[in-house]
Amino acid sequence: MVEAGGGEQRCRSSLCLFFILALTTRLVVAQDGGGAVGGPHAAPGAPSAVALSDSDPGLLRALRFAEGQYNVGSGGVYLRRVTRVISASRQLVKGMKYSIVAELGNTLCKKSTSADPTTCEFHAEAARLKAEVCAFEIWDIPWLSKSTLLKQKCQPTGSNRTDPGAPSPDAHEQESVDLLSAFKEFVTKYNRSYSGQEEADRRFRIFRKNAQTARTLQSLDQGSAEYGVTKFSDLTEEEFRSLYLNPLLSQRNLQRPMKAASPARAPAPPTWDWREHGAVGPVKDQGMCGSCWAFSVIGNIEGQWFLKKGSLLSLSEQELVDCDRLDQACGGGLPSNAYEAIEKLGGLETETDYRYTGHKQSCGFSSGKVVAYINSSVELSRDENEIAAWLAENGPVSVALNAFAMQFYRRGVSRPLKIFCNPWMIDHAVLLVGYGERNGIPFWAIKNSWGEDYGEQGYYYLYRGSRLCGINKMCSSAMVN
Ligand SMILES: *[C@@H]1O[C@H](CO)[C@@H](O)[C@H](O)[C@H]1NC(C)=O
Ligand SMILES: *[C@@H]1O[C@H](CO)[C@@H](O)[C@H](O)[C@H]1NC(C)=O
Ligand SMILES: *[C@@H]1O[C@H](CO)[C@@H](O)[C@H](O)[C@H]1NC(C)=O
Repeated sequence: MVEAGGGEQRCRSSLCLFFILALTTRLVVAQDGGGAVGGPHAAPGAPSAVALSDSDPGLLRALRFAEGQYNVGSGGVYLRRVTRVISASRQLVKGMKYSIVAELGNTLCKKSTSADPTTCEFHAEAARLKAEVCAFEIWDIPWLSKSTLLKQKCQPTGSNRTDPGAPSPDAHEQESVDLLSAFKEFVTKYNRSYSGQEEADRRFRIFRKNAQTARTLQSLDQGSAEYGVTKFSDLTEEEFRSLYLNPLLSQRNLQRPMKAASPARAPAPPTWDWREHGAVGPVKDQGMCGSCWAFSVIGNIEGQWFLKKGSLLSLSEQELVDCDRLDQACGGGLPSNAYEAIEKLGGLETETDYRYTGHKQSCGFSSGKVVAYINSSVELSRDENEIAAWLAENGPVSVALNAFAMQFYRRGVSRPLKIFCNPWMIDHAVLLVGYGERNGIPFWAIKNSWGEDYGEQGYYYLYRGSRLCGINKMCSSAMVN
């Protein structure tokens, strides 16, 4: 158990200091496939982005510059300004690259006036404010006195929110006391133990920053999701990515081509859930290992085997982690490779015969223990209606997505702004088991492999119908004859 006493003392005394609102680096938007050209790309190993306080002078300059460019490009009558900065970071790359996510809205000033824009007040009503969230990337080369807008991507939010101003010191104090008790609760609930006081303090700081990120996600979610404390709340984004996600999924060149699935015979029924038809086993836990690809594929095969052979087995992911030489065990893998590896191996053992350990061992596969096989694999259409129709006729589908909104997801239908959930940056494989609508919000029901204590009994619900987070990009299934 963590000894939270000392940490509490320190945190309390730090309250006396001016408390800079920690802006989250997490919301820095990744470049998409056809993103900025000629700009400084963040190469692996490049210095990582530094989060900025929203009073940083360089940031303010970059923001004014982005605002100006944005107004030149916008068609409206009114001058638009930033109502609040949601996140900001900078990175040293032949000059300075600023990545900013901000909300903008209409001011009362017409564009044609020569008024100083910083004196223009905002429209009060949402319909006239017309708020939208934009992701900007500004490349500032001071020695050339030159700035370039590398990227601008915006999405309306329809919200009424304007800058709430800086919270009062009292509010901060209350917030920190609440946070500390939330952290204690977290440590108990998830049985965390830290190596010493220093580590416990560091984990609390990460927890605090993550709470801020969860609040940001919450304020921008367009569905019904609740974000907050999860069992991943004491991990930095980098730790979470490297321990639980799968970077190989977005490397298209590694994909093995698959046969196209034959289209469904009938249109999709309004709702479907394979959990109600016995084709889905209990939620499993991949642990600290990037083996989501194995869980996704095994979940699909368990469903296929049940639908063709009538029994729901629990099959071995560890066999793939150890014996699938086409993939990289805990370092990630691709469903298309995993199907091929299973065909080559000759089938799958049960979970009980070949238990999950969550790390790579030497291959202990024994063909005598094979209980299920596959004969081929197919790739589905990228149309969400066709995916739904195929799923309802044929069983749960292996899919992959950008897991951006998943670290702090608790329940409800998650619908992050598209600009945060780049469909080309797919980093997690899961299992689509059904779909439907909740209070008018269409969703995909997604079986995850982070244990039953994640999300809704191990499930994640994602908005359906706008190809969100690339959910339609890598849908596949094994075929059992
Ligand atoms: C925005 O404000 C108006 C009136 O102030 C209110 O009727 C409306 O429900 C608000 N919309 C949202 C999304 O909060
Ligand atoms: C909690 O963690 C300790 C040490 O890490 C371990 O010995 C213990 O079994 C764990 N308890 C539960 C309920 O997981
Ligand atoms: C499917 O694969 C199994 C195991 O490799 C094999 O025994 C069976 O004959 C195959 N079925 C067809 C129709 O090819």
